[in-house]
Amino acid sequence: MRTSMSSSESLREALNFDEHLILENNWKGRFVGISDYQFFHRQSLENFEQFWAGVAEEIEWFKKFEKVVIPGEHPNVYKWFAGGRLNLSYLCLDRHVKSWRKNKLALIWEGEPVKEDGEPLEIRKFTYFELWRYVNRVAYVMKEKLHLKRGDRVAFYMPMIPELMILMLAAARLGVIFSQVFSGFSAEALASRISDIGARYIFTTDGYYRRGKIVRTKEIADKAVEECPTVEKIILIRRVGSTETPIDEAKHAYLEELLKDVNPNAYVQPEEMESTDILYVLYTSGTTGKPKGIIHDTGGYAVLLNATMKWVFDIRDEDIFWCTADIGWVTGHSYIVFGPLMVGTTVVMYEGAPDFPAPDRWWSIIERYGVTIFYTSPTAVRAFMRLGTEHVTKHDLSTLRLIHSVGEPINPAAWRWLFELIGGGRCPVGSTWWMTETGGILISHAPGLKLVPLKAGTNGPPLPGIEADVVDENGVSVPNGVKGYLIIKRPWPGMPGPPTGMYGDPERYNSVYFSRFGYFFTGDYAIRDNDGYIWVLGRSDEVLKVAGHRIGTYELESTLVSHPYVAEAAVCGVPDDVKGEVPIAYVVLKADVPKTSRVQEELRKWVRERIGAIAEPKSIFVVSRLPKTRSGKIMRRIMRALATGKPIGDITTLEDEAAVEEVKMAYEALLKEIGGKLE
Ligand code: WT7
Repeated sequence: MRTSMSSSESLREALNFDEHLILENNWKGRFVGISDYQFFHRQSLENFEQFWAGVAEEIEWFKKFEKVVIPGEHPNVYKWFAGGRLNLSYLCLDRHVKSWRKNKLALIWEGEPVKEDGEPLEIRKFTYFELWRYVNRVAYVMKEKLHLKRGDRVAFYMPMIPELMILMLAAARLGVIFSQVFSGFSAEALASRISDIGARYIFTTDGYYRRGKIVRTKEIADKAVEECPTVEKIILIRRVGSTETPIDEAKHAYLEELLKDVNPNAYVQPEEMESTDILYVLYTSGTTGKPKGIIHDTGGYAVLLNATMKWVFDIRDEDIFWCTADIGWVTGHSYIVFGPLMVGTTVVMYEGAPDFPAPDRWWSIIERYGVTIFYTSPTAVRAFMRLGTEHVTKHDLSTLRLIHSVGEPINPAAWRWLFELIGGGRCPVGSTWWMTETGGILISHAPGLKLVPLKAGTNGPPLPGIEADVVDENGVSVPNGVKGYLIIKRPWPGMPGPPTGMYGDPERYNSVYFSRFGYFFTGDYAIRDNDGYIWVLGRSDEVLKVAGHRIGTYELESTLVSHPYVAEAAVCGVPDDVKGEVPIAYVVLKADVPKTSRVQEELRKWVRERIGAIAEPKSIFVVSRLPKTRSGKIMRRIMRALATGKPIGDITTLEDEAAVEEVKMAYEALLKEIGGKLE
């Protein structure tokens, strides 16, 4: 399980990051050097509270905080900036409206459809003032017409249109807790999240455009609410102009209609939120159980985002900032909406598929708006790499000055492609490490601090005020160059918030993240090199990362088992050239089901409809029994080895309970069974 590396040199070699890839030389004069950073970082930890208090003072508080960080009511839940009061909608809008930024562009949005000449059909631009006015009117509707008040919950099932950002800011203005559910998720996935949070309303669209087709969100939401008694109404935002099923006045209302008689100058006073109040809940998958509702607070979250926009993105007023994520994931919450708007930048948001109608869509967007900072994912890069360089080189990308990726480890080829082709060899290319639970970036190069030489492929050192470590099974620090588990040793602003970390489930919050090491366990394998840089290698648990998104094996397995044909199911991830990893499934069918190939088709469709296309297994193998240990643990390593056509390898290091003989037998039995069926 452990890989021993003597130094970062051999590590780079092992990961195939060769040559002159420490970019110090390209950036002469910009950096102060690693030892200076280490000193600075040490200082931030030695004066932990003082350090974070200083960072927190960079944002505007209605009432200053009394304490930097104190324990909350439940173990491992902390109250950051307790006693402080603030409002995210105010910080993202009102503050700028009162400044010279009033007429600065806050948002440039591009819809997916194009005209005959291939140019975008719709571009909507909002200045800070315009955005502020729209948010106030929507907040007015929420408050006066829907009677939403502080602490109430709503769900957003919204595609990438400006109204999603506006709804988030309007909810934040009122202290209404929102949960955005990725618009690619199914009715069942939506329903389980709505009922967990007890949402009073769902906000969705009549539909949206994806790869030239219309996705019917209204119909999916209708289906979801059938199981959700807390939902009073579905509020629809018009996007495609029609619905397939009728509007029922008792169940639906159009936001447009609700806004009709609202004074265009409506102003809604932002609530003075406690720093420790919940801003939003975002669901993410784990290895076991249903998706977990991660709570993000108001003050700590705001402070981390404000700081990372400066440290990691080196944000400046003239920047045009484009994060390509979907707001359905945490990346979009933090680095399309709250982070960029807090620091008053101009955000680019794109509705549709990256390669629609042509493979140069993204690069035309960078050119059209003069994007300067580009934040994307290795999966997207790998997909583009297959399409050829000509789609990139026909566009002028010379405005770019900084590039970061996120979601999974970046492979050398993808890094080089970003660095050379997209960044023209001028731009630092980083790989920011964080997770839904961390709220914002914790480990990264920090061009904005001018302190961190860029080392290709690594995530960089922990940011100031962040204490991360790599430990062995017993929680003991491993030497530099040795693979271990990544943990975060101290609380940080932006961590899962009060009251319970995980919505409604403080016990699970503790058992998932803290029971193993006593510190926050990320679930990742990592190596710390001699410079203190962290190289995250991937998940150490059975969480799949499909195109950078987390898919729980449990979620998939229980969905498969819920099909009338399936007796047992086991899912694991196998490498994929583009998506990094994709799920495959082994299923045992019930006795009376004929073993036809249509079973596979049917099950794929079943998963698509119940979780979403993102979770659809690449292959489904029908077997007579699953490879399990005597204690019932599924031997996923065998499943992976078989599906990838690889030998099972060194089984002496195999998961604890599995005896060598047992593993061999299970492998051979399975091999025999699916031998001819490998794709
Ligand atoms: C997991 C968190 C945070 C936004 C997107 C994903 C992996 C994330 C990196 C990176 C290597 C990374 C980790 C982490 N991950 N960024 N730069 N290098 N791995 O959020 O769905 O909560 O997933 O993504 O495995 O634990 P998420």
